[in-house]
Amino acid sequence: MVENVKTPTTITSLHSRKRAVDGAQNNGDIEQRKKDHIEIILSGKARHEHDSGFRGIAFVHNALPELDIGDIDVSTIFLGKKLKLPYLASSMTGGPDQGGIINRNIAEAAQAMGFAMGVGSQRIALGGGSGHGLDNEVRRIAPDIALYANLGAVQLVQGMSVDDARRAVDAISADALILHLNPLQEVLQQGGDVNWKGVLSAIENVCRKVGVPVIAKEVGAGISVDVATRLRNAGVSAIDVAGAGGSSWAAVEGLRRADSQGQSLGEVFRNWGLPTADCLQAVHSAMPEMLLIASGGIHDGLDGAKAIRLGAALVGQAGALLRAATLGPEQVIAHVAAWEKALRIACFCTASKNLIELRQAPLRRPQHDP
Ligand SMILES: Cc1cc2nc3c(=O)[nH]c(=O)nc-3n(C[C@H](O)[C@H](O)[C@H](O)COP(=O)(O)O)c2cc1C
Repeated sequence: MVENVKTPTTITSLHSRKRAVDGAQNNGDIEQRKKDHIEIILSGKARHEHDSGFRGIAFVHNALPELDIGDIDVSTIFLGKKLKLPYLASSMTGGPDQGGIINRNIAEAAQAMGFAMGVGSQRIALGGGSGHGLDNEVRRIAPDIALYANLGAVQLVQGMSVDDARRAVDAISADALILHLNPLQEVLQQGGDVNWKGVLSAIENVCRKVGVPVIAKEVGAGISVDVATRLRNAGVSAIDVAGAGGSSWAAVEGLRRADSQGQSLGEVFRNWGLPTADCLQAVHSAMPEMLLIASGGIHDGLDGAKAIRLGAALVGQAGALLRAATLGPEQVIAHVAAWEKALRIACFCTASKNLIELRQAPLRRPQHDP
């Protein structure tokens, strides 16, 4: 089944549209904002200008792998669930109708291929808006996958309760709850949530009471060792470092702004953040026991292989997957199959017959940056 998302309108039309949206936060506004996000990311105009850090890392090539590539096992177990490959379709959408199609396309591919999926923020659905995000459709399509619910951590100090978080989890029969940390995005968004006092203790409360593992993530600006330490102490089970190098949420929000100050602030902070490879290495060496997800500017399965070598248990893609996800499940399958193939080739050419061996594969610093 192929479900197409309608061709997006242009970015210029975003500016010319008079938005009463800005400053208000009702469900219709949030839904429009989510549509804008998809449109802007698809336009390719909201990317970090710098690399996520993986280009500066290279494996030592092994010219005698003594392996049959067909025997390489890239399966893994994450939070108690077996995955056929260490791939996460990162949280993108939980609300608008277009989002429903995207989620269905990803879910069908995830079920066929055995990778993990995070839905986008379920805030709209919790607020009584579009059913997508709080109905069980994704789970019906993908009964066997590792599926993660999603809410903004700052919402927990803006009236969202632990019971709401539990509803988000139960509604989609999620295996875990992702709480996203997006202070830069919020501060650049007109009417965004800028009072972050008490967020950490609210996260701690959810970790204690929600009944499923909690994963904390950024959205493209990265998690430092200090923040990771506080999150670990609050009881999170895994951290997605979601670093800089891919989608820039400062740029996205700047492009949505109608006022020139907002637009230029989006550009000022476009490249803000910790590159994914840097925070991954730093957090992994500070707390090797912590389950880590690497996302933020992951281009392909070779970036994925490097991320696994640097300590990631799972590798996530959002922006790079979005186009395929708007087209249909076959396109998602083709995209992820290419990603998996590159991961397998990296395993083959480092003589790694599984991901445990890939984590030990020797690295070199490339002498000539491309
Ligand atoms: C269209 C779109 C919508 C997103 N919405 C959410 C969301 O609702 N919740 C969330 O935690 N992250 C959201 N993200 C952030 C991604 O999950 C990811 O952390 C970030 O985009 C960095 O990864 P990338 O460089 O691969 O895009 C969204 C990303 C995209 C592209």
